[in-house]
Amino acid sequence: MRISEYKIEEVRNSANIVDVISEFVQLRKRGRNYIGLCPFHKEKTPSFTVSEDKQIYHCFGCHNGGNVFKFLMEYKKISFVEAVQELAEQLGIHLEVEEFASEKQSEQEILYDINTEVANYYYNNLTNELEAEYARSYFENRKIKIQTVRAFGLGYALNSRDSLVKFLISKNIDLDKALQLGLIGKSADGRVYDKLSGRIIFPILSPNGRVVAFAGRTLIEKPDSAKYINSPESLIYVKGRILYGLSHSKDEIRKSDKAILVEGYMDLISLYQNGIKNVVAVSGTALTDEQAQLLSRYTKNVVLLFDADTAGINASLRSIEILLKQDFDIKIATLPAGEDPDSFVNKFGKEEFKEVIKRANNFLEYQTEYYEKQGAFNDPQKYTEAIRELVKPVALIDDELKRTALIKNISKKFNLREKLLEKELETAIKQKSRYDEKPSQTKPSEETIETLFQQKTKRKISTVYFNKEAELIKFLFEGNEAIIKLIFNNIDPESLEVEIHKNIFYKVRDDYEHFNELSPAHLISLFDDETQEYLRKITLEQYTISEYWKETHPTVSFEVTSYQFVKDLIIKLKQMQIDVQMNENLKIIESSENEELIMSLMKTNRELSLKKLNIQLIEEIKIN
Ligand code: UTP
Ligand code: MN
Repeated sequence: MRISEYKIEEVRNSANIVDVISEFVQLRKRGRNYIGLCPFHKEKTPSFTVSEDKQIYHCFGCHNGGNVFKFLMEYKKISFVEAVQELAEQLGIHLEVEEFASEKQSEQEILYDINTEVANYYYNNLTNELEAEYARSYFENRKIKIQTVRAFGLGYALNSRDSLVKFLISKNIDLDKALQLGLIGKSADGRVYDKLSGRIIFPILSPNGRVVAFAGRTLIEKPDSAKYINSPESLIYVKGRILYGLSHSKDEIRKSDKAILVEGYMDLISLYQNGIKNVVAVSGTALTDEQAQLLSRYTKNVVLLFDADTAGINASLRSIEILLKQDFDIKIATLPAGEDPDSFVNKFGKEEFKEVIKRANNFLEYQTEYYEKQGAFNDPQKYTEAIRELVKPVALIDDELKRTALIKNISKKFNLREKLLEKELETAIKQKSRYDEKPSQTKPSEETIETLFQQKTKRKISTVYFNKEAELIKFLFEGNEAIIKLIFNNIDPESLEVEIHKNIFYKVRDDYEHFNELSPAHLISLFDDETQEYLRKITLEQYTISEYWKETHPTVSFEVTSYQFVKDLIIKLKQMQIDVQMNENLKIIESSENEELIMSLMKTNRELSLKKLNIQLIEEIKIN
């Protein structure tokens, strides 16, 4: 069975698309709409647009778009029913259980559910089991408070071969799925066993807080066993796309417009517990492009705080490139040798830690210092090579001013030859553009869509006329009843020249007559993909008041007088339609030999020009 249309409408009408999307994409207001970086393709300048009044979104770069359900489906890779369910749940709207009970739960949903059950199981072990006493005191020794254990859902896996297996069986959980998730393993003899036994457990959450994986840390460090064991990748867990702690820290990151990037689970948890909440952890792998992109939804400012050991330095250097490519502002903070963020904050406290962050250098100073310490600038042989290495990441920065400022700064600070720096930078930039992949985002030219639909018109029409029709169609999606009625009362769909406009007009009118439903998000959903894309494009464009309106009403604001504006628009459109007719007649008049026909057409044209002067609009009449 399906969820009723009525319920779907209710859920959609109760949700605000701006709130829903804001949870995943950093949006800022621009004009009537909100814009942000598109989560569906890589981009540096925002072309992802969300309209609060129309309750739709559209990316002008990759053309993804639709209503709030479509966003959730695309973003979370879930089905329509799941999107409706999820929103309904958030909004506290009750869907009848029968309405979706028989709907097959998606594969991913099943895996999420298993992980949630298992996370609870581990947590309960830690808090209740006698055997977990050792784990509890371990956390205590590491100064982890019970509230923090709860907040991060930390747990303990009993030290046995099959207690999780037994739990899974008792819960009727499909063991094959648990194997897929890496919760259990299968030995050569076919027996299944617990994978993380005897370890403390860190659930790994997706940005919106679903358990996608686990990490288990050994309680006793032994040289022959890994300190941490992480879940393998699965349908719901792609390592390079997850940042540990993000679901906890994203609000704080957005608020402070800055993220501190650390290496380990414990680093994140300790900082968070100490009130430093704008932190995420890469947890053991090198930062990936996708992680950087994920983070860029919340901020473009990042402070790297990796361990001071060689591995940490190398991780910093690698991360810099990845972050620069996505236009991040990068600083690098360093801790005293032998400390990691966890040990540091527990030893010296929050205020000292904040000082460390304040002292962070920009990435180039950090790198230069690194080369200086290695003596690269004292050795003429190494000098040029070091400069070459230094400017490489700088070449990744798009902004020329930023590049110049960075170069000038280190040249002064480290007494380096500025001319050489500039020369090497230039070479690096040239090389980069040679090897650069083509930008993934091909912005369609303004004309693409127009020409696409131009071809489907009855006659060849001018761009000015096309835009007038498009403008009229736009007003059908403004949700203003008086205006929509005005248009229905005065425009005969058959008079529209552009095929797609005509189709849209008919469909909206039908829908209005049957359901009296005017919400743009609803109306748009009635059309095929191609038409939807066109509609999103024309309706979400930043409003450009037509030239005609600007000329004739230089001082009147658009918002208050849109009704009047549409009246003028309709009149103008009708006049132009008459012009088209008159011109066609004129052509015949000029080329024909038939006196009778000429006379009759001239008469028609006289009538038409009279009609053109006397266009009267019908207002306030009910349509049936
Ligand atoms: P660290 O060895 O620095 O551990 O590894 P840590 O985070 O400081 O943990 P504690 O303080 O010893 O408990 C940093 C990160 O690298 C990953 C983990 O994400 C860890 O938090 N790692 C480390 C692994 O995935 N596997 C390992 O065997 C070791
Ligand atoms: Mn540590």
